[in-house]
Order: sequence, then structure tokens, then C-alpha cells
Amino acid sequence: MAIKESIHPFEALTSLQGVADIVYFKEIDSTNTYAKKSKITPVTGVVVIVAKSQSAGRGQRSNTFYSSAVGGLWVSFVIRLDSIENHFVVNRALSLSIASVLKSHMPLAQVSIKWPNDIYCGSKKICGILLESVSIDPPVIVAGFGCNVNNGGSSFPKDLQTIVTSMVDETSVEFDVPTLLSEILQDFIRIRDDDQVQVHSRYKSLLYGMSREIEINDLQGVFDGVEADGRLRLMQGENVHLISSGSMRFTGSAA
Ligand code: BTN
Repeated sequence: MAIKESIHPFEALTSLQGVADIVYFKEIDSTNTYAKKSKITPVTGVVVIVAKSQSAGRGQRSNTFYSSAVGGLWVSFVIRLDSIENHFVVNRALSLSIASVLKSHMPLAQVSIKWPNDIYCGSKKICGILLESVSIDPPVIVAGFGCNVNNGGSSFPKDLQTIVTSMVDETSVEFDVPTLLSEILQDFIRIRDDDQVQVHSRYKSLLYGMSREIEINDLQGVFDGVEADGRLRLMQGENVHLISSGSMRFTGSAA
């Protein structure tokens, strides 16, 4: 059962520029599912849905996303676009804002963006992003992200413990979750409206696994970055393949 609360730790974020509304749940199945079911349609500004805990968090490729632990950041931004084609602008701005905020709090950690939807710390995942359509006309999307903050490794199911990490695991420090969300939200709004040529070069500089050998969609080659429209560049000798979606697997060893 969804437990919605009107007085909550994220209230102060309502006054941030560019924020249309903040909806807080102590408990919910999934903030993305809520956004889609309730057909939230902001005219301007971002509607933010945030949960203390999710019982049925969803991830990429219909996977479940573990997010029942308290101390993580389980959030959906609902955004109206000029055109549905612009969804990579949202993905890129969100990836960059999360990576930048994490980097600023963990200066010793190797924070990077793993195309298309993950944020890594070293070789472990710290955050996943899920973009979904709420409505085509008008074009509205929900950009959900789950970031491990004060939910340390021992709270994860056994099969995840070696492949995911959290901010507290990386630094041994606990963080103020509303402050982190406020920083990500403000950075996201700024980056989304910034010069996208510069934004793209910042995005590319943070990509995980550049120039490594990969396999994706049954193709093997070298990961050569991401085009401005969001497609992955896979080099096979002199030939370049542009790939819109898929999950890359690293086949060679890291340099
Ligand atoms: C992935 O790693 O596959 C993407 C995970 C996205 C998880 C977030 S948590 C908030 C929002 N609600 C969901 O059900 N999923 C996203």
C-alpha cells in the first residue's frame, strides 16, 4: 500500500526554481509506476516523486531494482519535453548531474557514466536510471533513478553485494539524502538548459570503459564513445556501428 505523506524531509525542495511539485511516499511500489499510472502531466517545471522505500522498484529490461532499503535515493522526475525525440537530452543531463554531485562528495572515487543508464564507482554500480514515457501527446517522460547512499553493502541481497556499491561504502560517511537530491535536481535543471555541445563533451569525458573491447547486441568491437544523439559508437576496424540500445559487456581487460 502506498503511504503518502504531506509533511516530509524533502519539503524545502518545493521552492527550488524549476520545480513544479514534490510528492513524497514513505512507502510505495515504484515511483516510476506511480508517475505513469497517475499520468502526471506538468506544464512547466519538474514534478519530483520521492520514496523512502520501494517494494517493487523496476529497472532496465524489465528487471527488478532492489530499493526496499531505507537510506537510498529512490526518485522519479516527471518532465514535459518539446519533442519525444529529446529523451537523450534528459538522460544525459540526469547522468551528468548525478555523476557530478557524487564526484563532489567522493573526490577520491572514480565516478563514471556507463552507457546508457548507469553510474559507476570504480567497477561497481552505484546508481541506475530508467526513462519511460508517460504520454506521447503531450510528450511527457519519467526519469527515475535509484542511488545507493546510506544503504551500505550489507543491506543488499547476497547476489548484488560484489557488483554494487553505495556512498557510505565508498567513504564511511553518512550523507543527508534531501541535500543530495536538492543538488542533483538543481544541477539537472541547469545542465538540461545549458549549451548541449559543451554538455555532451562533459558527458563523454565521464564515460566508463572508453576504448575497451566490448560485446553488444551480438557485435564485438571497441567502445568509441557516444554520438550527440545518444547512440553508442562501436568500432570494428575502420567501420563504425551506431547502436541505439543494448547492454555492453566488456570482453578485454581494462587498460
Ligand atoms: C536500472 O538500474 O536498471 C535502472 C534502475 C532505476 C531505478 C529507479 S528507483 C526510482 C524509480 N522507480 C523505479 O521503479 N525505478 C526507478
